[in-house]
Amino acid sequence: MSLSQVASSIPTSPTIALNEEARLLREKGEPVIHLGIGEPKNKTPIAAILSSAAKLSSGEVKYVPTDGTPSLKKAIVRYCEENYDRIVTPQNIIVSDGAKQSLFNILYTLCNPQDEVVIIAPYWVSYPEIIKMIGAIPVIVTPDDGTFIPRFDEVERVIGSYTKAIIVNSPNNPSGMIYPETLISKIVDLCEKKGIYMICDDIYHKLVFDGKVAVPACKFTSKDVENSKIILVNGVAKLYGMTGFRVGWAIASKQLVEIMTNVQSQTITCVSPVMQAAAEGALNGMQSIVETLRLLIQNNRDVLMQELNSFTDIRCQKPQGTFYALPDFKAYCRNSVAKNSVELCQFLLKKALVVTVPGKEFGMEGHLRISYAGTVKEISEGIERMKWALDPNAPSEMYIGDRKVVRDWL
Ligand SMILES: Cc1ncc(COP(=O)(O)O)c(C=O)c1O
Repeated sequence: MSLSQVASSIPTSPTIALNEEARLLREKGEPVIHLGIGEPKNKTPIAAILSSAAKLSSGEVKYVPTDGTPSLKKAIVRYCEENYDRIVTPQNIIVSDGAKQSLFNILYTLCNPQDEVVIIAPYWVSYPEIIKMIGAIPVIVTPDDGTFIPRFDEVERVIGSYTKAIIVNSPNNPSGMIYPETLISKIVDLCEKKGIYMICDDIYHKLVFDGKVAVPACKFTSKDVENSKIILVNGVAKLYGMTGFRVGWAIASKQLVEIMTNVQSQTITCVSPVMQAAAEGALNGMQSIVETLRLLIQNNRDVLMQELNSFTDIRCQKPQGTFYALPDFKAYCRNSVAKNSVELCQFLLKKALVVTVPGKEFGMEGHLRISYAGTVKEISEGIERMKWALDPNAPSEMYIGDRKVVRDWL
């Protein structure tokens, strides 16, 4: 039986596959440390729990408008005003099952087959796959100087007559870098001049460190949301640690939102009102939750950097936001242990029971993505185990759980 070639070519999300592998190992009682995970460990904000519980106990859990409940939209309108100084109306908003689905809807709505969508490496693993799923072509900009931030001319160079959109994710998953204001403002100008959509994936926008700010793209346009090419994507998954609620949203012109709503009406109908009530609770509740999380993660970042500094031959650009770092492990990708980042990850999972994500998946071979969204203990012990497994200068014996292990491969 022949199946869809496009669907058959889509790989499992590597992070989801790794989560599953770690879960199975843990089930067998193995002391796995998960430095691959893309979610904070905090409990759901109480305002989100109360709000969704109230909806649930009302017993009135029915279909709601496809583009989102009026009360969640009202909270998003306010969020935009407070965080972006941007006036939007409810008709400029569509709520979806997570930012991932918002991105799918946007790209499906914008692109014809063979249209090109520009993404910047390192990029979030799902961008190229979503672009391919909707029949468009991902065009990847990889900074030639080995940094994680492209020069503007590197972006400009790939723009052609088929370019429909560019996705900008700053602070960036996986590098943790914030793109400089000058780069953002030049991309805004370029998009406006050429009629290209700029999709800003702002899912980590408040998780920034050391007083830095991820300046939003809309600051650099004089156009209002109706006339602008900027499409904003956001959600509650990362800032509020509400990954399991699956609520994200897109902000765009009314015309675009209308088409996205038609698309969504033929796929999911609507996001569950219970989940939308939870998101509304989070947005309307105490925002100090986000600041508490930000401070915790910034401290975790410092612990990670300190641990990595004592690792021979590892270079790591200090993350400015998110909860990821993308250290360069090339020195450990060219020996009998591993030839590339995929083999290196497999080796680390097998020998040290530490989950990391291969840089190859983000368009950066030779690197590993390390998440520091967990606890300080997990970060310190995880990097300690990695050093033991890879670094000949590290002691050759250590404990993994209550098992004493001896390194005999270096
Ligand atoms: C850059 C980026 N965008 C979007 C998402 C998806 O967010 P959501 O869980 O709301 O679908 C993620 C999740 O890892 C992400 O890292």
